[in-house]
Amino acid sequence: MTSIDRDFIDSLPKAELHLHIEGTLEPELKLELARRNGVDIGQSTVEQVRGTYDFTDLTSFLAVYYPAMEVLVTEQDFHDLALAYLRRAAADGVVRAEIFFDPQAHTSRGVTFSTVVDGLWSAVQEAASLGVDAGLIMCFLRDHSVDSARATLEASLPFRDRIIGVGLDSDERGNPPEKFAEVFADAKAAGYRLTMHCDIDQEQSITNIATVLHEIGVERIDHGTNILEDPALVAEAKERGIGFTCCPLSNSFVTEEMKGVEIATLLRQGLKVSIASDDPAYFGGYVGDNLAALTEAQQLTRAEVVQLARNSLEISWAEAERTQAWLRELEEIAAR
Ligand code: ADE
Ligand code: ZN
Repeated sequence: MTSIDRDFIDSLPKAELHLHIEGTLEPELKLELARRNGVDIGQSTVEQVRGTYDFTDLTSFLAVYYPAMEVLVTEQDFHDLALAYLRRAAADGVVRAEIFFDPQAHTSRGVTFSTVVDGLWSAVQEAASLGVDAGLIMCFLRDHSVDSARATLEASLPFRDRIIGVGLDSDERGNPPEKFAEVFADAKAAGYRLTMHCDIDQEQSITNIATVLHEIGVERIDHGTNILEDPALVAEAKERGIGFTCCPLSNSFVTEEMKGVEIATLLRQGLKVSIASDDPAYFGGYVGDNLAALTEAQQLTRAEVVQLARNSLEISWAEAERTQAWLRELEEIAAR
C-alpha cells in the first residue's frame, strides 16, 4: 500500500489542463437542465442516465457524449455547468483550470457562439472567488470539416481576449492532425496557444504524434502516451519541454487499462507529464481521483506526486508571476 493519502494530494496546488467542460455534465445536472429546458432526454433518473454510459472505446464514448449536450441551451446553462466544475476543482486543490469547450457541438444545434462563451466566461470570472484562476481553450471537432473549423476560428475572434488557446478533439480515426494544419497556423497567428489530442492506441498514434510535434508545433499534447513507441520522439519531446496531459481514469474507460505504466515511465524519464480528468462525469472521477488512482496503481513516491503537480503548473498557460507564486507554495507544502 502506498502511504500517500488523499489529503496530501488535495493539498498540493495544481493545474488541470485537460478537462472538457461538456464532460463535467453530471447526471443530476443533466436531468435538471432537461427539465429546465423542456428537453426529453429519454431518462428521468440518475440511474437511467448512468445506464446509458456503455462505452468501450473513444468512438462509443463519443456516441453517448455528444447527444447528452442537447440539454445545454442557454447562457445560464453553460454558466451553471462551468461553475459546478470549478467548485469541484477547487476542492481538489486546483489553482489553475484551462477548460476545453467544443463550440461546434453547440453551434451545430443552433446555440450561438456567444451564448456558450458568455456563459462559460461569467463562471470563469466567478471562479476567482473560489481561488481558481481559469481560462478557456476552444477545441475544433476533428471529425468535422476544415471549413467548419475555419468558420469556428473566425467566430471566436471577437472573443479573442477570453480564449487562451485552441485544441483538437473528437474522433481521431481518419482525422489526422495535418487536416487542420492551416487552421492551426492561422490560430497561432491570431495569438492562440496550441495543443492537440493524440488519443490512446489509435491506428496512427505515433505518426500523429510526430505530426503534431513537427508540423503543427503544439506546446502540449493531450494524452500522447503512445510516444513511448518511438524513443527519438520521447527524447525530442523532453528536450523541447512538451507538456503531456494524461488522464488515467479516462484511459481505463476507452482502453483496457489506465496506462499507468506508460504515464509513470514518461514521468520518470523527466518529461513534463501532468494529470487531469478529461470527462470526469463519465469516467468516474475528478483530478484528485485520477492522481490517487495513478499513485496507488504505480506506487508513486511523494516526490513523484509533487512532480506531477509541479509539471502541471509549469506547463500551464497562466501568467508567469502567478505560476511562480503557486510553485513557491507547492515547494513549501512539499517540504513540510
Ligand atoms: N472529447 C471529449 N473527451 C475526449 C477525448 N478523450 N478524446 C477526444 N475527444 C474528446
Ligand atoms: Zn480529452
